Amino acid sequence: MKLSPALAALIIAWFAVLGCIQAVTLEVKEGNSTCIKAQLSASFSISYNTSNSTRNVQVSLPDSATVDTGSSSCGTTGSSPWLVAVFGPGHALGLSFSTNGSLYSVANLTLQYNLSDSSVFPEANSSDVVTVVSSSVGIWATINTTYRCVSPSPFEVGGTTVTFSNMRLEAYMPGNDLSPTESVCVADQASTTPPPTTAGTTTTVAPAPTPPGTPERGMYSVNNTNGTVCLLAQMGLQLNISHFSLSQNKTVQELVNLAPNLTSSSGSCEASSATLVLTQERTTTLNFTFTLNSTSHKYHLSGITLLANWSDMTAPFSASNTSLNYLRSTAGRSYMCNAEQTLFVVPTFSLNTFKLQVQPFEVTTRQFATAEECQMDQDQMLIPIIVGAALAGLVLIVLIAYLIGRKRSHAGYQTI
Ligand SMILES: *[C@@H]1O[C@H](CO)[C@@H](O)[C@H](O)[C@H]1NC(C)=O
Ligand SMILES: *[C@@H]1O[C@H](CO)[C@@H](O)[C@H](O)[C@H]1NC(C)=O
Ligand SMILES: *[C@@H]1O[C@H](CO)[C@@H](O)[C@H](O)[C@H]1NC(C)=O
Ligand SMILES: *[C@@H]1O[C@H](CO)[C@@H](O)[C@H](O)[C@H]1NC(C)=O
Ligand SMILES: *[C@@H]1O[C@H](CO)[C@@H](O)[C@H](O)[C@H]1NC(C)=O
Ligand SMILES: *[C@@H]1O[C@H](CO)[C@@H](O)[C@H](O)[C@H]1NC(C)=O
Ligand SMILES: *[C@@H]1O[C@H](CO)[C@@H](O)[C@H](O)[C@H]1NC(C)=O
Ligand SMILES: *[C@@H]1O[C@H](CO)[C@@H](O)[C@H](O)[C@H]1NC(C)=O
Ligand SMILES: *[C@@H]1O[C@H](CO)[C@@H](O)[C@H](O)[C@H]1NC(C)=O
Ligand SMILES: *[C@@H]1O[C@H](CO)[C@@H](O)[C@H](O)[C@H]1NC(C)=O
Ligand SMILES: *[C@@H]1O[C@H](CO)[C@@H](O)[C@H](O)[C@H]1NC(C)=O
Ligand SMILES: *[C@@H]1O[C@H](CO)[C@@H](O)[C@H](O)[C@H]1NC(C)=O
Repeated sequence: MKLSPALAALIIAWFAVLGCIQAVTLEVKEGNSTCIKAQLSASFSISYNTSNSTRNVQVSLPDSATVDTGSSSCGTTGSSPWLVAVFGPGHALGLSFSTNGSLYSVANLTLQYNLSDSSVFPEANSSDVVTVVSSSVGIWATINTTYRCVSPSPFEVGGTTVTFSNMRLEAYMPGNDLSPTESVCVADQASTTPPPTTAGTTTTVAPAPTPPGTPERGMYSVNNTNGTVCLLAQMGLQLNISHFSLSQNKTVQELVNLAPNLTSSSGSCEASSATLVLTQERTTTLNFTFTLNSTSHKYHLSGITLLANWSDMTAPFSASNTSLNYLRSTAGRSYMCNAEQTLFVVPTFSLNTFKLQVQPFEVTTRQFATAEECQMDQDQMLIPIIVGAALAGLVLIVLIAYLIGRKRSHAGYQTI
């Protein structure tokens, strides 16, 4: 009898903690046929300004989110298929898709939030509806298969972070339900997540034989023509490449770490652009281009080029994307991200970074200037605080329940 209120309190508190994680099912239909179906949990980390400070809030996609049939479409009229989920007063999450016949991918990810919703954004100094878009998302799968990613995957979208987890989705669907065949994301292949129980699942993205583990952190720099250091970088790098393997006679997805002791750096620095070129044993060349906007005094990583000529390849692998927008910071400062970040470059190549710090402009000494830290690091610092607060609350509830229980049984003894 004494235990039951405490137990009830424990269960309630437990559900309150778990309750933040919800999975939502969203479907876009045309007539009787479904063309996009998504089951996912999503949370958003959004910064906004009050009159005298900047605040950060965590919002999760609620169960009540529904598909906006007005904006969503199957894309039969020449436009791309588009899934738009709306929730709360004027918030929306949009996923637009494209295909080339054999693969489909999320072409852009849109988040819209309404700062006048004071329950989410208390004391916001603006009542604007803000829309942010990212076109480098890296969610892609073979057509007629379901994209699966149970592991949380964060995406930086215009200063906010969108984190998907427990995600299963398919576009250009051949039937009205998710295809049983799955394309499994790299994070799930690497983690200890048990493989899906569905029999006969053929993952089109071949699992890497042995994941190479976290790469070692390298220190790289670029010198000016007069010998002074003009670019500093410190990071662990992991290449994630899909290529045709000679030995296995099929396309494989490989994770390869860059070994700092075998890698040399070079590059160049100009007023509004800086290039870092990393070369590992003449077989791998990785080129980073940073661009400075002299008006806004902000810089970002705008281009990544990879050339790889490995013995197991039929032809040299080359990939390049020069319209990227990663690692955004202010001139004269460094950009830092201790958390693992995935920089999507092209469907067949992405780059994982670990414990990264870079400063491509206005390097005055051989040391990094003040760092601007990525959103993911800031979020991770919040987690222990939230967990601590939840545990403290739990202990308090149990203690109160125990005291009440004790008082009641004492009262009982006295009346006998
Ligand atoms: C949808 O299905 C119903 C019953 O199966 C059928 O009567 C109706 O014509 C279908 N509508 C379309 C647009 O195919
Ligand atoms: C908040 O205000 C600062 C300057 O006070 C500005 O640089 C920043 O862009 C603002 N952030 C948002 C999300 O509006
Ligand atoms: C910000 O403004 C609010 C209301 O104007 C005030 O209560 C609060 O103390 C201020 N905070 C700081 C850090 O100035
Ligand atoms: C994102 O996709 C939607 C739907 O295809 C399109 O209307 C919108 O213009 C796209 N946004 C950007 C920035 O490409
Ligand atoms: C679609 O894109 C992938 C990756 O870029 C490529 O391997 C494939 O050949 C393309 N398919 C078609 C039909 O163009
Ligand atoms: C996908 O499935 C549909 C229906 O089963 C089929 O017509 C189409 O050819 C398939 N596409 C590919 C690329 O396998
Ligand atoms: C840059 O110059 C320093 C000496 O000033 C030298 O030790 C270093 O090796 C040079 N780095 C590169 C990449 O050339
Ligand atoms: C080296 O060259 C850069 C520009 O190319 C210049 O800003 C810097 O002052 C020069 N340093 C020395 C010691 O001459
Ligand atoms: C590679 O695979 C293809 C088809 O899967 C097969 O025709 C070919 O003989 C194989 N080549 C080797 C060297 O095993
Ligand atoms: C590079 O470092 C790795 C791991 O620290 C070590 O095993 C390897 O022998 C080193 N190679 C050279 C050429 O120093
Ligand atoms: C690196 O990329 C920049 C911009 O894309 C290009 O100008 C430069 O030639 C490239 N360098 C190498 C060594 O590939
Ligand atoms: C530089 O930043 C300003 C202000 O944010 C913006 O208006 C301009 O378009 C940017 N220039 C380039 C080349 O991106």
